[in-house]
Amino acid sequence: MFLESARLRLRPMELADEEAMFQYHSDPEVVRYIPWFPRDRSQVRASIEKIMKATRLEVEGDYLNLAVTLKETGRLIGQVSIEFTSAVNECGEIGYVFNPEFSGQGYATEAIATIISHGFDLVEFHRVIARTDPRNIASIKVLERLGFRQEAHFVSEEFIKGEWVDTLIFAVLDSEWAELRKKWDLQR
Ligand SMILES: CC(C)(COP(=O)(O)OP(=O)(O)OC[C@H]1O[C@@H](n2cnc3c(N)ncnc32)[C@H](O)[C@@H]1OP(=O)(O)O)[C@@H](O)C(=O)NCCC(=O)NCCS
Repeated sequence: MFLESARLRLRPMELADEEAMFQYHSDPEVVRYIPWFPRDRSQVRASIEKIMKATRLEVEGDYLNLAVTLKETGRLIGQVSIEFTSAVNECGEIGYVFNPEFSGQGYATEAIATIISHGFDLVEFHRVIARTDPRNIASIKVLERLGFRQEAHFVSEEFIKGEWVDTLIFAVLDSEWAELRKKWDLQR
């Protein structure tokens, strides 16, 4: 499973990615709005081992979690995922975590657009959603830049890291993405 955009190559995670992944998985700021706590090396390794097995997007419950690397240098800068959440509703859900060292250059936006297009092409999703904490401004900005629509604000929905947190649901339909993706496909 390899995907490409203008500046990025998305590929399966490898054990050799441990150091690059540890850099951002261990950062409390990076995981602030993510359900898990900062990880130590053994937790990062366990995460890679799990992700390495997630290489199919064929039936409900499958998910892809790909390493995002810079084409120019091969450097791993983050990861994007897409999960096949419902067969009957033809729905997928995306996730993303990036090393802040590489933020502010549109890499996350470009990588997420790439994996969404792949999901719509491969599974023929009807709808792709993203969940985010309303305090996660960077995440909301990325979703809005991509053209996602905010559809819901669940109040005090989940108990995460010792507190009740709200959840925003963003979504994009296949018919909408057909238009939105033109901008990103041009850059490939
Ligand atoms: C959410 C997250 C991926 C966003 O990262 P990011 O660096 O803001 O996103 P991008 O790499 O797409 O960069 C976007 C910025 O680059 C700018 N940019 C520069 N060149 C660009 C280009 N070619 N295309 C798009 N944006 C570009 C944008 O204007 C934007 O800047 P702004 O935030 O000042 O408006 C990152 O903050 C993160 O990993 N957070 C921790 C994990 C997390 O919370 N994940 C989400 C869980 S729901």
